[in-house]
Amino acid sequence: MTVSPLQQFQRTIAGALASSLGVDATAILLEKPRDANHGDVAFPCFRFAKERGVAPPALAAKLAGDLASALPSVSAKPAGPFLNFTIDRAIFARELLPAAFRADFGGAPPSGEVIVLDYSSPNIAKRFHVGHLRSTVIGAAVKRICEARGARVVGINHLGDWGSQFGKLLTALRRFGSEADLDKAVETEGPWRGIEYLQDVYVQYHIEEKKGADAGRELAAESRKWFLELESGADNEARRLWKKLTSISMKEFERIYQKLGVTFDEVRGESAYEKDLAPTIEMCKKAGVTRVSEGALVIEIDGQEKPALLQTGDGTTLYLTRDLASVFYRKNTYHFTKAVYVVGGDQLDHFKELAAVVKKLGHAWSGDIVHAHFGMMRLPEGKMSTREGNVIILSDLIDSAVDKVNEIMLEKNPNFSNTNRNSGEVAEQVGIGAIIYHDLKQDRRRDIVFKWDDVLNFDGDTGPYCQYTHARLASILKKSGRAISESDLGSLNYTMLADAGPLLMAIARFPAAVEIAAARFEPHHVAQSAFDIAQASNAFYRDHRVLDAPSPEVVAARLAIVEAARRTLERSLQLLGIAAPREM
Ligand code: ARG
Repeated sequence: MTVSPLQQFQRTIAGALASSLGVDATAILLEKPRDANHGDVAFPCFRFAKERGVAPPALAAKLAGDLASALPSVSAKPAGPFLNFTIDRAIFARELLPAAFRADFGGAPPSGEVIVLDYSSPNIAKRFHVGHLRSTVIGAAVKRICEARGARVVGINHLGDWGSQFGKLLTALRRFGSEADLDKAVETEGPWRGIEYLQDVYVQYHIEEKKGADAGRELAAESRKWFLELESGADNEARRLWKKLTSISMKEFERIYQKLGVTFDEVRGESAYEKDLAPTIEMCKKAGVTRVSEGALVIEIDGQEKPALLQTGDGTTLYLTRDLASVFYRKNTYHFTKAVYVVGGDQLDHFKELAAVVKKLGHAWSGDIVHAHFGMMRLPEGKMSTREGNVIILSDLIDSAVDKVNEIMLEKNPNFSNTNRNSGEVAEQVGIGAIIYHDLKQDRRRDIVFKWDDVLNFDGDTGPYCQYTHARLASILKKSGRAISESDLGSLNYTMLADAGPLLMAIARFPAAVEIAAARFEPHHVAQSAFDIAQASNAFYRDHRVLDAPSPEVVAARLAIVEAARRTLERSLQLLGIAAPREM
């Protein structure tokens, strides 16, 4: 376990409090003061005061007196029922700066944890829209954050490439379109157009289906025939077409993953479990937990009214069956300590059911199945829905973000945009960074309302603001004409950083943010830390001269904290999957 400088001080404080109170250090719960002006660490006295039958402010005052000599580098001030601690800036900076200069700041050594992380997992033959974006960017961030904290993470793209809907899709393609038109769409405009073409014929199918019972039955029969052909595993026409749809879809998805800088260790769709389904069902039967209900094979779930459905009366398997097969595959292949699914909150019941079935089968590791769910992305005018046509297609979204960033950059820094060959690349990094940050900045469970102003505002809680601050810090260092490395830190006069408290503390809180983000699969803690560092950096720069500070000693110390802030900001953005350009 790596302990950050702030955590080290917290331990010292907790130890001193514990011995003064005559309790175990683990009983001491420290908080972050609500107002940073009050101190770095707060100790609420309520509980211990109650136990001792004294008023909390009296206990706070007594402890302040007791601790004065026990903690030489920390000052303790009572404030009502709280005891607030402020760490000596110079002493703290001497510990913090070298730590923050290290590339693994906020990280931890190998933990032995093995996390199988299921993210992105789009459905083939459908366009990747903003809703899918959430799983992709949250998952990719969780992967990097957990890896930084020492876990082995296996990233899996569980493509939705199987199910009876493919029988319908092939029927639709044959009835309401043609393979030749599909090929033409892909050739002339690209895979995305091919997918759109497939979506169009699928819509036709549903229109036709609604025309009457006979039409519906006919379509259903034909679809069943196609899916049976596919399920037979034979190298037939159904399989050839299905492979084509998969490959068109994957080309489009890969283009998006590349733009977002997202990778997977395993791209293994639902179809890969086709051969495992019968054995999985067999295993459930053998365990004696199944029963036949109206021809279907079900498992009773404790505390749930409806049983889980494993196989329908006509032998078709379901999404749940495939997830059951895949979780066993993952357990047996990777021996995970956690199986995490980054999937929308609309599938809460599904993952509860999955864990319940695994538990019913007698496996204690059912408790290691985690549904890291997230809220919906909405437009200000309402829910995004494919049917109503108000979806934002991800690649259009990225394109407009990049266009808008180009405009803003041209306005803010015309010189850079007009003369720098990389300005196009930077605009793309900032446009994409804006979208990713906007997705990650708040608790993933909450819904997101997508408003361009919130996404691209260069002065708010946004990706561009963090990136812009990073570039600004980089430019201060560049202008100084020196490179600062770890070896320069030994000779600094740290007393010169006595007035850098807020920035020191913002940097110091980064490791705990990474730790909690990894433990809870919640990237927003890291995003908030990035924003805090950016804000504190801007305030520091506003209130202190750096390059023309009063003495060379002060210049050196301030440059060092600027570089520590820049590195920590860069690292936080990197964990989120956001580029940190040095100029923009
Ligand atoms: N393809 C599914 C969908 O788009 C998500 C799959 C999530 N992963 C899983 N193992 N079920 O709704």
